[in-house]
Amino acid sequence: MITFDKEANLFHLTNKSISLWIYINSESLLETVYFGKYCERPNLSSRVKDVDNCTTQYFDQKEGIEKTFKDNFSIKSSRFEIGVHNGGDNRPAPIIVQKNNGMYDTNFQYVSHKIYKGYPKYENGPHVFGMDGDTLEILLKDEFSDVYIKYNISISSTSDVIVKNVEFINKGKSKVNILRALSMSLDLDDCEYKIHHFYGNWGNERNESVNDVIVGEQIISSNYGRSSHEDNPFVFITSKNATYDEGEVIGFNLVYSGNFKYSFYSDYLKKLRVSLGINDFDFNWVLVSGANFVCPQSIISYSSKGIDSMSQNFHKFIRNNLISYKKISQYKPIIFNSWEGCMFDFNTESILQYVDASEKIGSELFVLDDGWFGKRKDVNSSLGDWFIFEEKIDLKKVEEYVHSKKMKFGLWFEPEMVSFNSDLFRTHKEYALGVYRKHPILHRSQLVLDFSSEEVVENIFSQICKVLDYIKVDYIKWDMNRDIKEHYSLFLGDEHQGEMLHRYVLGYYSLLEKILNKYPNIMIEGCASGGGRFDLGTLYYCPQIWASDMSQPSLRMINNFNTSLGYPLSTISTHINNSIETSYKEKGYLALFGTYGYEMNPLMLTEREISEINSLINVYKNDHLSLFEEGTLYHLVSPEQHNFMAMELVNADRTKFVVIVCKKQGIRLSEKLRLKGLNESSKYKSNIGVFAGKFLQNRTLDIKLESDNLEIGFYYFEMVK
Ligand code: GLA
Repeated sequence: MITFDKEANLFHLTNKSISLWIYINSESLLETVYFGKYCERPNLSSRVKDVDNCTTQYFDQKEGIEKTFKDNFSIKSSRFEIGVHNGGDNRPAPIIVQKNNGMYDTNFQYVSHKIYKGYPKYENGPHVFGMDGDTLEILLKDEFSDVYIKYNISISSTSDVIVKNVEFINKGKSKVNILRALSMSLDLDDCEYKIHHFYGNWGNERNESVNDVIVGEQIISSNYGRSSHEDNPFVFITSKNATYDEGEVIGFNLVYSGNFKYSFYSDYLKKLRVSLGINDFDFNWVLVSGANFVCPQSIISYSSKGIDSMSQNFHKFIRNNLISYKKISQYKPIIFNSWEGCMFDFNTESILQYVDASEKIGSELFVLDDGWFGKRKDVNSSLGDWFIFEEKIDLKKVEEYVHSKKMKFGLWFEPEMVSFNSDLFRTHKEYALGVYRKHPILHRSQLVLDFSSEEVVENIFSQICKVLDYIKVDYIKWDMNRDIKEHYSLFLGDEHQGEMLHRYVLGYYSLLEKILNKYPNIMIEGCASGGGRFDLGTLYYCPQIWASDMSQPSLRMINNFNTSLGYPLSTISTHINNSIETSYKEKGYLALFGTYGYEMNPLMLTEREISEINSLINVYKNDHLSLFEEGTLYHLVSPEQHNFMAMELVNADRTKFVVIVCKKQGIRLSEKLRLKGLNESSKYKSNIGVFAGKFLQNRTLDIKLESDNLEIGFYYFEMVK
């Protein structure tokens, strides 16, 4: 619900659980009066804090005298929705527009507003949707130009989530340059917060870094051309001493797959400005007269009840309001992926054997990974040549065989790349980024295609269509195995090079859209050397993303635990592989806390291992959707701070729940866990006994994992009727 009190110039955005109060002050600037848990009406006078008598005076040019701003606000320290650039606010402004005369000053002031049901509607690009929200659209005009912005703020009525973004419109006669276009900023009254973000590299994504807000500016960003392994656009802040179920927590994410930037700024005034959006590194968007520019949406999840409630808000909102895949609430077939089993070393016969063997462990969707196209025998060739490698594989035969078994069929593509040893590169060198260099930088022997160009995207689209029109494909694994090291396009004019990285991301989205529009029944899974592009932009199109090339439970449990703080388990693609760290059954427990599936040489399995894997199929079939995908997730013990990890999932009617405990090698574990979210007056039976809900919520579930090895415990409870 959004209301506007005309007398007081006050907006209230609320869902009765959280509130955002915004005031239009006497200088037409938007001040954040209050953001937090539901508040009937804040005290307006509390917004003015006289910090060292700063900047409340101005010179009235007309009357030639000194005056005090009517509202007595302070440019330097008041809380603004969109801070000014220059003019007394030393905090970084979220928006900088350079005018045609070279001026940098930017100051957006209120003009008018609209309130409507739902979220802003966009034809293209990833965006939130649904009718459970209300939107406040505020039109603001730059004091120094005819550039306007639509500042959209939506509030969900079903999750404690706020969505913000900015749309630019140039109504002036001359072009301007947008030098910074962040999607939102949030000014907080103090800086007593810790910042949590998730860093890593290939095979080692999403380690948690926690640090205090410092005096100065902290930047968390990606400059890799994709959201990256190195840092993730999901970031949250916690008040001091917040836990999984107590304290104030504010989570942020961005519906974007390219370079992003978070700035946390605090100075001697000990307040905090958080701002986030497209990274402004080498960003310079030319906005010609009449043109518009839309910033990606940012999502804020607010909790006054600890980290889990912030993360549950995200889970619900991402599943209901962001993932556009139509069958999100339906059963998903169990995937078998060929990569770790045979890599490039396969032919028609060996793949048919894989199909048979995968069927024995319940696979319902067979995915042929890298190596079926061009002349691809290893990583050194053929990206960009999307035609079947007929001397290597009879793909039609494989597809028909898979379908004859009533299984679905999937194929791997890496659409954004080109090998220097490829027909595409030989005929269209200019399609590759970096060829202007004396020594174009390679990674995995490949270059990135210039997706800022429609011609390049169209070329790849028509090649992919030929394959998809020839064989029936139900699933695509869309990979991206290197980052973007070049910021120069041969297709864009001199003036537009600062647009290249963002245009690349738009090209990525446009190819996804073209494929999904033409083949709406295909499910696309995202991947970027594992989890190098795990973000909300990708999830809009791809309901799940391969979370890491590291499937060893000792490391993967950290990734999955941390990723699930910001993303639903149903998005975290996880497979059982041939790792020797623990048994197939125990690896299966971990995979159940993700999408579930297999990635192995199935011909190596012993009868005992086959039956171990098969013993989990019923859990997957009966419970994966309602419990693992749609249930409420509680993070009990973090593997970052302890030598074990524990999570709990409870279904909607609290009749079933599961607990997973994964302990590291070399320790013996004897712990009591306090469970959450149960029906206190009910009893639950499990493989370790019958317990009262109330009892289990009192730190009384006894866990003993006593071998020296890595060990995974899995406890499945059902309500006693
Ligand atoms: C990346 C992916 C793997 C696999 C290989 C194929 O590393 O993350 O899952 O698809 O590429 O080359």
